[in-house]
Amino acid sequence: IDVPIITVDGPSGVGKGTLSQALAQHFGWTLLDSGAIYRVLALSILNKGLENAPVKQLVETAKALNVEFKSHESSIEVYLDGVNVTKAVRQESTGIAASKIATIAEVRDALLQRQRNFAIKPGLVADGRDMGTVVFPNASVKLFIDASTQARADRRIYQLKQAGAPCNPEEVLQDIIERDKRDRNRAVAPLIAAVDALIIDTTHLTITEVYETALKFIMNKF
Ligand code: C5P
Repeated sequence: IDVPIITVDGPSGVGKGTLSQALAQHFGWTLLDSGAIYRVLALSILNKGLENAPVKQLVETAKALNVEFKSHESSIEVYLDGVNVTKAVRQESTGIAASKIATIAEVRDALLQRQRNFAIKPGLVADGRDMGTVVFPNASVKLFIDASTQARADRRIYQLKQAGAPCNPEEVLQDIIERDKRDRNRAVAPLIAAVDALIIDTTHLTITEVYETALKFIMNKF
């Protein structure tokens, strides 16, 4: 692929989404939120009652997945079979379901080409867990964003409070620990920094500091 690609990988709740959006906007490039694809697939599987279905059926669901991303003002809305599922997709329960189906190698394979199709001119910012290692191993610039579990839990709790959503701090922390374990320890495409990635530990950084660190690294590469 002769399209410039920036990959942004890291654990959940680390602020990859915010950084990726800012970078995509800065360069005027396409944004791939690969987590949203796994989340929409999880929703589709739950809607169809296929939680315990054989892998073959999950793969068929993945291949047939009718997902669309539409820009709306400054945010991106997600559609499953023409239905706006933006809210349902963001729910914690959907993220947990997504991280379970994401452990299945055949399901990941079924989503591979769909993700690669986002690499169109003038460029792509790809946000996920395995963007730099599996989906776009030849990406021009690779970033790996990390932060302590407690810092990520604190940010998530703050977001939930801002949104006026109910939140149990202990549960939020526990969910993050469990999702991390699943994402880092799975046999296929585990969450790990690519050897050529810049690792940014954001535990003690502001969003602006993360953005500036990333941009400086990117500018040196191009
Ligand atoms: O990033 P987000 O929290 O939206 O992703 C939801 C889940 O989907 C993750 O916990 C992870 O298990 C899975 N995922 C993945 N590979 C990606 C993106 C997400 O396995 N590239």
